[in-house]
Amino acid sequence: MEAAAPIAPHLTPVLGRYFQRDWSHGQGHRLYDTAGRAYLDFANGIAVTALGHVHPRVTAAIHAQVDKLIGPINAVGFTEPITRLADEIAATFADTLDSVMFLNSGSEAIDGALKLARRVTGRPGIVAFRGGFHGRTWGAMSVTSSAINYRTGYEPLLPGVHLSTFPAAYRDFGGDDDAAVAGAMADLRTLTSTDIPASSVACVLIEPVQGEGGFTPAPPAFLRELRAFCDEYGILLIADEVQSGYGRTGRMWAFEHAGIVPDVVVLAKAIANGLPLSAIVSSRELQERWGRGAHGSTYGGNPVACAAGSAVLATIREDSLVENAVARGAELRSGLERIAAEDDRIGNVRGPGMMIGVEFVKDRATREPDGTLPDRLSAACADAGLLVLTCGSKHEVVRWIPPLDVTAAEISEAVEIFGETLAGIPRDEA
Ligand SMILES: Cc1ncc(COP(=O)(O)O)c(C=O)c1O
Repeated sequence: MEAAAPIAPHLTPVLGRYFQRDWSHGQGHRLYDTAGRAYLDFANGIAVTALGHVHPRVTAAIHAQVDKLIGPINAVGFTEPITRLADEIAATFADTLDSVMFLNSGSEAIDGALKLARRVTGRPGIVAFRGGFHGRTWGAMSVTSSAINYRTGYEPLLPGVHLSTFPAAYRDFGGDDDAAVAGAMADLRTLTSTDIPASSVACVLIEPVQGEGGFTPAPPAFLRELRAFCDEYGILLIADEVQSGYGRTGRMWAFEHAGIVPDVVVLAKAIANGLPLSAIVSSRELQERWGRGAHGSTYGGNPVACAAGSAVLATIREDSLVENAVARGAELRSGLERIAAEDDRIGNVRGPGMMIGVEFVKDRATREPDGTLPDRLSAACADAGLLVLTCGSKHEVVRWIPPLDVTAAEISEAVEIFGETLAGIPRDEA
């Protein structure tokens, strides 16, 4: 992250900001600063403006709805944009995931999903994975462990949360997917034979691709074993698709790579291309068992955000953007692998579709993470006109989340800037 400068003395210093720059506006895939300089935006407000800035179809849908009804409307009945988006979201899932509760943010939806799991199962236990990030509200924070700063000073956290090993193949299992699957499953079984019986676990919550924790995909075999484990013990499997969803990984939902169907899916970020909206999706049967009035929200699912959400889904479908994520993701990955082949400061390039992490190490043999170079590189890329963000508990990873409708030319431009910028940073300067 760039060093703090006093641009806005009355804005809280608590929010972490990757760049100390003053932005004026966005257009398509470029963000413009107040000096009029354009930056190729591969940050997208952290995977939020997945269709770029001021997307014409989304903007038109927002304009039309603003003139009709802004809301909120939920407490007094139904309205077409909200009902329609629920139908459209349900249609992107297997038949069993047919009931949608709209909320405002990822964290809020994670909290709601945890409440659903406890109430429906009558069990207290929540299992999440080390290195995961699920948000900042109390429940979401309690299942988050991607950085200790997110938890420090807030103890005691939500009781009943147990953290298990995430199958981070490169970082923890010598790059061996099979060993990662076996090791993480063994840890889960140890957890449920020492800390909490599986019969007391309400849910297992997982990001199919860990986002903030380091852009680390769970091997598909792990998700399959997890599904079987949950089935065996009557545990609800919750997929946090807040960052990995909406075509980002080359499938509409990242869990599809494993051929499984979770019991609950949590969505946010790209859902309305920038307007606040999130959702909990499960079977209608589960939400009926959750019970009327068991959860709620004044603002969740307002008509304007939902109108934007319908435009997002229509654009993804009609412009074949999931397919674009596959094709452009392959180009991006091979460009990054070419750079990695010539620079041993990069230890690993990983991730499906356009959710690619580039992990930096001090030494390829020991894999000791380099928590300095990525932030330095991200700042230098911004100077060169490209916005890319870091992630990982030590900021050891540069994450790639281009817009879903990115072009091949923009991928080449970004890879070139990234490669040249990295080459321009001497080893001792990082
Ligand atoms: C996987 C994941 N879950 C949940 C959240 C929390 O979402 P929000 O910031 O909208 O509360 C995030 C945010 O980065 C996320 O990446």
